Amino acid sequence: MLDSVLIWVDKNRRRWLEDLQQWLAIPSVSTQQSHDADVAAAAEWAMFNLRGIGLTTELIPTARHPCVFATTPEGLCPPHAPHVLFYGHYDVQPAQIEDGWHTPPFKPTIKNGDLIARGASDDKGQVHAHLTALLAWREIASELPVRLTVLLEGEEEIGSLNLRTVIEQRISQLKSAQALIISDCNQFAPGVPAITCGLRGLMYYQIDVQGPVSDLHSGLFGGAVANPANALVEMLSRLHDGQGRVTVPGFYDDVASVDEALRQQWKELPFTDDQFAREAGITTPFGEAGYTTLERKWIRPTLDINGLWSGYQGPGAKTVLPARAGAKLSMRLVPNQDPQKIAAAFEAFVQQITPLGVTVNLTALGASPAALTPTDSPVMQAAAEALKIGFGQNPVYIREGGSIPVVGWFKEMLGVDAVMLGFGLPDDRIHGPNEKLNLECYYAGIRTAAALYDVLGHKLCGK
Ligand code: BES
Ligand code: MN
Ligand code: MN
Repeated sequence: MLDSVLIWVDKNRRRWLEDLQQWLAIPSVSTQQSHDADVAAAAEWAMFNLRGIGLTTELIPTARHPCVFATTPEGLCPPHAPHVLFYGHYDVQPAQIEDGWHTPPFKPTIKNGDLIARGASDDKGQVHAHLTALLAWREIASELPVRLTVLLEGEEEIGSLNLRTVIEQRISQLKSAQALIISDCNQFAPGVPAITCGLRGLMYYQIDVQGPVSDLHSGLFGGAVANPANALVEMLSRLHDGQGRVTVPGFYDDVASVDEALRQQWKELPFTDDQFAREAGITTPFGEAGYTTLERKWIRPTLDINGLWSGYQGPGAKTVLPARAGAKLSMRLVPNQDPQKIAAAFEAFVQQITPLGVTVNLTALGASPAALTPTDSPVMQAAAEALKIGFGQNPVYIREGGSIPVVGWFKEMLGVDAVMLGFGLPDDRIHGPNEKLNLECYYAGIRTAAALYDVLGHKLCGK
C-alpha cells in the first residue's frame, strides 16, 4: 500500500505545493499584536486542512494564541493501531521586505527550485509535508496507518508561553502516545538526511540599567556620575573570560560530558570549518577553546548578547550621559543543566558585578531545558527507515544548537521522547530574510512522512 501512496504523492506535487503556498501567504507572526488575526486565520486554515484528512479538530484557546488539536475518529485507523503524537508550530518569525527580502515574504515565490517565504522551512512547510502525507494515505488507503494526535501551536517563536498549560489540560488524551514526531529542524547537509537526537535549551533575559533620572551633559557631569552605558558594557564584558568561557559561577557544574566515541563519530561527519564560515558569512569560526565548531554548537552552553541599546544613536556627535542602558541576553543550555539553577546563578552574579551608582533590573523572558533522546528506540529505527525511503539515503545522527521548548516538557510530562527528523537545510535562512525550503526536500519530506506512519503502524503494533 505504501508504494501506491508514494506514487500518489509524486503525481500530485503541484497540488500539494499550491496548498502550502496558501498557508504561507497568511502572515502568522506570533510576536506582533497587529498580526493576531492572521495567527488565528493560520490556525483556522490548519483546522480546515486536518478535517480534510478526516481528523476531528478542536481549537484550544490560550491566554495568547490558540493550539490546533486533532484526533483520529473511530474507523479512520485500524482498531489496535499505535498512538502517535505529531507536534509542529504554525506561527512564524516577523518578516518585512525592508529586511532584505528579494520578494515579499508572504507572497510565496518559486526560484531555482526553492520555495521562498517566511515559514517555508520553519515550520509550516515541514508541518505541511506531514499533513500531505496523511492526506495521501486517506485518499489512497481510506484509512491512516496509526492513531494520530496532532498538536500545532501558535507560540513557538515566542517561547511556547502557554503550551505547558495546554498539555496539562489534555494530559489524559496525550499520555497514551507511544511516539512523538517533530519536523522542525534540518538535514545535516544537502543529500545527508539526519535524525536530531539533542537540542540545546534556552534561557532569555532582559537587563535594564538605570543611572541618573534623565540624560545629562557629558561634560558637566561625566566622570562624576556613574554612566549606565559604561556600567552595562563593563558588566557584559565580565560574563566571558579570555578562553571564551562563561564566568557565571557554577555555569558548567552540571554540564553532561560526552563520550569520546561519539565525539569521534561527529568528526567523521561531512563538515568543514571553511564551509561553515562561508554559510555564516564570517572569515573564521570562534568559540570556547578546546572544542570543535560542532561541539561548540551542540554540547557546550553559551551566552550571547541578542540586543543592546543606550544613548545617542543619531547622525553626528551629541555629548550626553544617558540615563538608561539595556540589553537582551540568551543562554543556550545543554543536557543536565537545570534552567532554574542557572537562572539563580546568573541573577546572583549580575548583582555581584553591578557597579556602584546604577540600578540593575533583570527580567526573565522564558526558560526551557535542553533535550536529549535515545538513539536506539523502535521509533528512531522507524524514522531512519522512513528517511531512507524518502531521501534515498541513510540518515546521520546529529544534535542541534537551536531550541524547541516543548521537547523537554513532553519528556517530563508524558515520559515520551521526541523523534526529530527535519526536512530543512542548514542554509534555509530561517528567521532571516529570504527564508526558503528546497522543493526537492519538501517532496522528499512528504515521502518520508508517508513512509514513517506506515513503518510506525507496523513496528509499534502490540507494544
Ligand atoms: N525550529 C526552530 C529551532 C531549530 C531550528 C531547531 C533548526 C533545530 C534546527 C525553532 O522554531 C526556533 O527558532 N526556536 C527558538 C526558540 C524559541 C524559544 C524562540 C530558538 O532556538 O531560538
Ligand atoms: Mn521552528
Ligand atoms: Mn523558529
